[in-house]
Amino acid sequence: MKKTFSFFVFSCLLLIQAVYSQPTGLVHHLMPVPARMEKGNGRFTLTQEFTLAIKGKPHQRIYGGATRMLRRLDGRTGLFFSQAYITSNNTDASASLQITVDRPGKVILNEDESYTLTVTSEKIKLTATTDIGALRGLETILQLVGRDENGYYLPAVTIQDAPRFPWRGLLIDAARHFMPIEVIKRNLDGMAAVKLNVLHWHLTDDQGFRVETNSLPKLHELGSDGQYYTQEQIKEIIQYADSRGIRVVPEFDVPGHATSWFVGYPELASAPGPYTIERKFGIKNPTFDPTKEETYTFLDTFIKEMAALFPDEYLHIGGDENNGKQWKANTQIQAFMKANNLASNHDLQTHFIERALKIVTRYNKKMMGWDEIWQPGITKSIMIQSWRGKKSLFEAARKGYTAILSNGYYIDLAWSTSRHYLIDPVPADADLTDEQKKNILGGEAAMWSELATEETIDSRIWPRTAAIAERFWSPGSVKDVEDMYRRLDIISLQLEEVGLLHEKNYEMMLRRLAGCRDITSLKTLVDVLEPVEDYKRHGKGNILTSFGPYTLVPDAANPDAAVARKFRFLTDQYISSPNEAAAKELTYWLTLWKNNHAAFQQTLKQAPILKDVAPLSQTLSAMSEIGLQAMEHIRTGKTPSASWVETTKKQLEEAKKPQAKCELKVVEGIEKLVQKAAKATT
Ligand code: ACM
Repeated sequence: MKKTFSFFVFSCLLLIQAVYSQPTGLVHHLMPVPARMEKGNGRFTLTQEFTLAIKGKPHQRIYGGATRMLRRLDGRTGLFFSQAYITSNNTDASASLQITVDRPGKVILNEDESYTLTVTSEKIKLTATTDIGALRGLETILQLVGRDENGYYLPAVTIQDAPRFPWRGLLIDAARHFMPIEVIKRNLDGMAAVKLNVLHWHLTDDQGFRVETNSLPKLHELGSDGQYYTQEQIKEIIQYADSRGIRVVPEFDVPGHATSWFVGYPELASAPGPYTIERKFGIKNPTFDPTKEETYTFLDTFIKEMAALFPDEYLHIGGDENNGKQWKANTQIQAFMKANNLASNHDLQTHFIERALKIVTRYNKKMMGWDEIWQPGITKSIMIQSWRGKKSLFEAARKGYTAILSNGYYIDLAWSTSRHYLIDPVPADADLTDEQKKNILGGEAAMWSELATEETIDSRIWPRTAAIAERFWSPGSVKDVEDMYRRLDIISLQLEEVGLLHEKNYEMMLRRLAGCRDITSLKTLVDVLEPVEDYKRHGKGNILTSFGPYTLVPDAANPDAAVARKFRFLTDQYISSPNEAAAKELTYWLTLWKNNHAAFQQTLKQAPILKDVAPLSQTLSAMSEIGLQAMEHIRTGKTPSASWVETTKKQLEEAKKPQAKCELKVVEGIEKLVQKAAKATT
């Protein structure tokens, strides 16, 4: 009860702030924020009489899209609408929602995704050039739905919307951990909900080859542990994505990251086999032999089949992180380099990429790859995906290449949402001409799956990717972090409507960890933990394998722990203007955490899997005690002793260190309380 109340206060504080920060005068929870929005008067009340009609010349994907929208709307409101499946027969001019589409859309780069939405108390009008624009508008309608004691409604509003960038992607790595098609489907629905339009499907890597290949069957038969997508499944996913206005760009990573290819075809590698599927992570040695003609014959056969399977104009060939070790160790390759005046591994890689480019082009695809595929003189039709950083992104753009940004959007690295959110592919101060800026087509969030399984991947992707999607869609001026978090809290729950498991798997995982139904103390602890960032979990000498357990506390913990974030926000507020309400709130949390360790120790008795997080629980308790002491000093203005300040600071430093691959995210807030207490008296 108390906790609910506390969250209520938090939410109200945030909401009040948001009301005053909305330039349009409309408090909304749209994500992404539309390009233009104007508040109208009144509201459109949703009743079971709600109907919709579609006119114009849409592609038929709009009917499925409109039907799905209706089902989500009735699911959320509990209203029994009269319409079942929307078809081209639904053109009734008296329908509440009138959708008008000029022409069939194509799921291709640069397709028109704009729409205009007008809500009045009588009618809702959605007009778009293409059905894809209309689909984007339907998602906006779902996000606009408000509710109060009188029911559900749409606020009167006029929205004119179009994306800032045409390439707004999510990379899903299905190689490190295989992701069954249900995972891909629900994430495509999540992508559509926040207006992303490219699924970058990372299908091959050292740890697995995930595509059925009829012409070279040993690839999937021996390289996948039986975990691969059949071609029927791939077609099903492409169709599923198409019906949501999402492109599917496949990635086949060569010449490095290729161990799984060589299990069936060891003769293509630069060192003798045999090869087995890689079970560990990191940069591995197995690399295609770029000096053999049969390498290119093989790739020709492979790319020919894949080019026919995947309809998108782009095909991603990876090209990243080739460590060149096998090349260095192979005397025949070294002789080839000498004979062909190839001075370095990069030159040899260039030779390989040029040959690959010819093949990709032969099958009418544009080649795309990571930074490393760029080389002087390479055709301008290639596209660079920058994982290394803005420098290479901007260089590519300056030289006239199209490029997208992924550096800064690696969502496997457990960064906070705000950190990703504030990274802009083309920031206002970018040292580029307008023409060069146009070469930057957008970006992709990258969900590498070394640490993610089908059970946890949603919670690594969502809701943070909704904020990244906003960066790609909304005007660059939309960057109010507090307002983003306010909306993200709401959008995160709406994303559950499409079947995403990011919220609900959390407590399930805690139950498994605790081995019982009572997860109170465990949840209190994990609510303020985040998994370690960057590559600290992979780290040196790690024991991680692709088959190991990813059911641990850092797997359950949220990369952007909301309770901890709200606590930090509250401490900042309290420190800038100490007040009774904030003091009460802080005291509530600090007392809860201080006392939690005793209860956690009971949980621990039955849960040996939690043994290594016990120190974190102990630390949380001790730091909370310090926080309470600091607050008492602030309240009374009583001088803390110099030794208290000194000892406390040391303890806080210690508490910041990761344990059990997690970090306690409330220490920073407590530290500020201590600093305030110390300052108050000096
Ligand atoms: C990459 O992260 N090696 C693309």
